[in-house]
Amino acid sequence: MGAPVMGNLEDWAPRIEKGKDTLYQHALEGYAGETGAMPPRGANPKLDDDTIKATVDYMVAQSQ
Ligand code: HEM
Repeated sequence: MGAPVMGNLEDWAPRIEKGKDTLYQHALEGYAGETGAMPPRGANPKLDDDTIKATVDYMVAQSQ
C-alpha cells in the first residue's frame, strides 16, 4: 500500500531524516504522504502511545 518496508534503507533514510518526533506523530495521528496513507496507530486504536513509539523505534533500528 506504499508503506516503507522495514529493513529497506532506501525507503527509510528520507523518513529518518525528519526526526523521531515527526515519525512518532505520524504513526500516532496518521499521515498522508507521497506514497500512500498511514492509518492512525496502524489502524488499531487499542495500541497505546508507548507501544506505537516503541514500534517506530524498532522499525527505525532495523532500517538504518
Ligand atoms: C503499529 C503499526 C505501524 C507503525 C508503528 C507504523 C509506522 C509508520 C511510520 C513511522 C511511517 C513513516 C511516516 C513518515 O514518513 O513520516 C509510516 C508510513 C506509512 N505507513 Fe505505517 N505504521 C504502522 C502500520 C501501518 C499499516 C497497518 C499500514 C497500512 C494499512 C501502514 C501504511 C503506511 C503507509 C502507506 C506509509 C507511507 C505514507 C507516505 O509517506 O505516503 N502503516 N508508518
